[in-house]
Amino acid sequence: MSLLIKNGRIITAEQDYAADIYIEKDKINLIGLNLSMEADKVIDAKGKYVIPGGIDVHTHLDMPFGGTKSSDDFETGTRAAAFGGTTTIIDFAVQAKGTRMGDALDTWRKKAEGKATIDYGFHLIITDLPEAGIVDMSEMVREGVTSFKLFMAYPNVLMADDDTIFRAMKYAGKTGSLVCIHAENGRIIDSIVRQSIADGKTAPIYHALTRPTIAESEAVNRSIALAQIAEVPVYIVHLSSNDGLEKVAEARDKGIPVFAETCPQYLFLSLDDMGKPGFEDAKLVFSPPLREKWNQDKLWAGLQKNDIQIISTDHCPFFFNGQKDMGKDDFRKIPNGGPCIEHRMQLIYDGGVNQKRINLNRWVELTSTNPAKMFGMFPKKGTIAPGSDADIVIWDPEKEYTISVQTHHIRVDYSMFEGHKVKGNAEIVISRGDVIVENNEFCGKPGRGNFLKRGIGVAYLY
Ligand code: URP
Ligand code: ZN
Ligand code: ZN
Repeated sequence: MSLLIKNGRIITAEQDYAADIYIEKDKINLIGLNLSMEADKVIDAKGKYVIPGGIDVHTHLDMPFGGTKSSDDFETGTRAAAFGGTTTIIDFAVQAKGTRMGDALDTWRKKAEGKATIDYGFHLIITDLPEAGIVDMSEMVREGVTSFKLFMAYPNVLMADDDTIFRAMKYAGKTGSLVCIHAENGRIIDSIVRQSIADGKTAPIYHALTRPTIAESEAVNRSIALAQIAEVPVYIVHLSSNDGLEKVAEARDKGIPVFAETCPQYLFLSLDDMGKPGFEDAKLVFSPPLREKWNQDKLWAGLQKNDIQIISTDHCPFFFNGQKDMGKDDFRKIPNGGPCIEHRMQLIYDGGVNQKRINLNRWVELTSTNPAKMFGMFPKKGTIAPGSDADIVIWDPEKEYTISVQTHHIRVDYSMFEGHKVKGNAEIVISRGDVIVENNEFCGKPGRGNFLKRGIGVAYLY
């Protein structure tokens, strides 16, 4: 199969130019002016941007959590991702306490095989690190799982203590892998939560009000300190507040190799979107929670100054009816997480590029190139260059779209961004040379997505 993309404006993290692209099988073969070779399919991209496929490095598909499991599996979740212009994800395999990391990887590979419609990799969530941990981590790296997540939140469930985090960091240093941290002080939050429940404050809004921003900044600071002692880089996931960002920025100013991602929910939603009557706020229960609105500008500034390098989604959907409502009388029982995998590229394009907060190159960098570089997939993914995988999105900058549960492809019964209007959307989505979305139709196949054996990322080159 060959494809010729004509007349497009190619945007990468560094470049912006007019050229044609010739794709043979799964790779970009040639880029040039007025290419005239024969191809099985020709796409006229006049007036459109031609960008590398989006890479979402933080998703939770088919994940057991909070007494239930996330509602998108690898088929529905990756299809929704594709509609939004995302052609690669990194999901999280969770090590059950007392088991080997390889068991978790096997389990998650089976969840994805036969289902994923786009390429996928895994981070490994470490919940337990016995002596064999270094052996397991080395094995994971050999298998292409070159990043690990540890939680400072969710005591007695996922939380790892400082000793475990520190040892994981040291082992990561030996294997060249990257430790990613969920930075919230879980014990302090639990103490505040217990008081809230005792005071009869059980509604969903109290999930947010019992998780102060300083609980995030303390954990960010602690993880940076642990990483400094272990002499390794560290990556903070789903950074949500200015307090947390200040700790990242301070460290980076000192030359400490700290990296961070944020997510659309923290850039576009805030506590102002909560406080709805009844149980509605449960739709916006995730951790870290939404913050006061002024934090949004600070996060955008962090993206502009490169204190934050990546925008992921933390996509972790649960049905409002039948899942979120497990916590009707007690916010602690609301499964934490929100749906976003389909809307990241549009939201960041519209809120970032259209609103002149970032330029086109930075949009591509934050949503595709930096994710590929940070997590060992560059230049196979994250750019448009001869030899790279032909993961390409034909982006229509004029296409208007209103985000809604009525039209989204995520398997969930609400949208976090219901009614949010965006200008700019994916028109044609190509994954390894296959057109998988065209004319608002999905034309990919479940199971066509490949497991990505990732290499070492750029954090060690800082
Ligand atoms: O609320 C969230 N974020 N759920 C997913 C798990 C996590 O912490 O990333
Ligand atoms: Zn997390
Ligand atoms: Zn997450």
